[in-house]
Amino acid sequence: MDIKRTKIVDIFDPNLIGQKVCVKGWVRTRRGNKNVQFVALNDGSTIKNIQIVIDLSKFDEETLKPITTGSSLHVEGMLVASQGKGQTSEIQAETIEIYGTADTESYPLQKKGHTLEFLREKAHLRPRTNTFGAVLRVRSALAFAIHKFFNERGFFYLHTPLITASDCEGAGAMFQVTTLNLNELPIDEATGKVDYTQDFFGKQTSLTVSGQLEGELGATALGAIYTFGPTFRAENSNTPRHLAEFWMIEPEVAFNDITDNMDLAEAFVKYCIKYALDNCRDDIEFLSQMYDKELITRLNFVLENSFVRLPYTEGIKILQESGKKFEFPVSWGIDLQSEHERYLVEQHFKRPVILTDYPKEIKAFYMKLNDDGKTVRAMDVLFPNIGEIIGGSEREENYDKLMQRIEELHIPMKDMWWYLDTRRFGTVPHSGFGLGFERLVLFVTGMTNIRDVIPFPRTPKNAEF
Ligand code: 4AD
Ligand code: MG
Repeated sequence: MDIKRTKIVDIFDPNLIGQKVCVKGWVRTRRGNKNVQFVALNDGSTIKNIQIVIDLSKFDEETLKPITTGSSLHVEGMLVASQGKGQTSEIQAETIEIYGTADTESYPLQKKGHTLEFLREKAHLRPRTNTFGAVLRVRSALAFAIHKFFNERGFFYLHTPLITASDCEGAGAMFQVTTLNLNELPIDEATGKVDYTQDFFGKQTSLTVSGQLEGELGATALGAIYTFGPTFRAENSNTPRHLAEFWMIEPEVAFNDITDNMDLAEAFVKYCIKYALDNCRDDIEFLSQMYDKELITRLNFVLENSFVRLPYTEGIKILQESGKKFEFPVSWGIDLQSEHERYLVEQHFKRPVILTDYPKEIKAFYMKLNDDGKTVRAMDVLFPNIGEIIGGSEREENYDKLMQRIEELHIPMKDMWWYLDTRRFGTVPHSGFGLGFERLVLFVTGMTNIRDVIPFPRTPKNAEF
């Protein structure tokens, strides 16, 4: 037992046929008769299994007994062209070492047919299923594509802090970070409130909802940066599109206006989708076959068509004139609900839409005010089946206008002086956006619940694993 291991993703190379090989992995299935047994072995490197053929005249039954679904093996033998259909080659076992058994009574992933809901309860083991193996490989490839895209375009990867004292989106949906003893909080006598000067950082802090504010510091120094990291939102939204902990990619570019920003966003998502189609074909085909026959057509459709670019005001008009009865009534000034976004994308335009120039009241303080004084240079990219996949804007670079907005919204500025300094010293037009990574993975894999595209989802009342 001393041959170098070949990963199963590489074992189907026709040049290996006729050679002695070594594979290691987990048993997916075992079947056969009293002369010969067939074991489907998977090592996570590919959706494909390698078939191990066990000639029972060469092995005694007692040693083979523990080879059940979920057990782990080290197999050596001759790689031969396969007689069976559905595979090109198989291994005729010469030696088999069993690393670990998996009791058939208690191992939860017996053969097939588990619902995604059931597998969510088994998130510690579900990566061993075809579906989650495929999703996690696609997720990994997309993460790589993101770095590749920005690297090829001269962007710098900026690491922004996860612990922060500012609320970028102003939505107040932050998880507090403290080392204070919650049972014995120190109270400031003058105000009667918690005395955070005694807390670890000497002030109230939280987990970040976005790296944008620090991203702007990077962009106004390095020119073009992107962040890619976890973000946290304590929104109590139990929906198939929201996580309490999700990953976000936030490019920020000095001298870009809203049009440059839209161009960048469109090129960026298309690049990622194409990368996945080119590099994860087996996995995407599997997912398409299992869950969504239209998946590959939809991915190609997005690649081949330019996104519609439409001001919010015109979007509202289309919704009002649609004659459709929405659960949430439509009027100028409303924040669009998923049903509205999906109508525009899936029924009206039948392709991705970038909605721009939203009313300032429903967008964050940092967005650039348009000349009408009512709308801001925001841009949301809306996708079929997903709704909002990207949110971004051109930023207000004018110090006075930005301060006015901050005062109108009563944003506590004492912890934001550093942000304002970008507008005080060498301010420049600049723009950026945030892509919700899991929403992109949802789109590319055709999965429908965001809990199924992140290994260990964090949602209200759920932080298991
Ligand atoms: O639209 P959002 O809130 O924008 C920002 O945070 C800006 N600071 C981004 C920027 O301009 N740099 O969030 C950006 C994207 C959304 O479009 C969505 O795809 C995703 O992040 N997102 C979520 N994904 C999963 N779960 C949640 N709870 C999410 N909230 C936002
Ligand atoms: Mg948004």
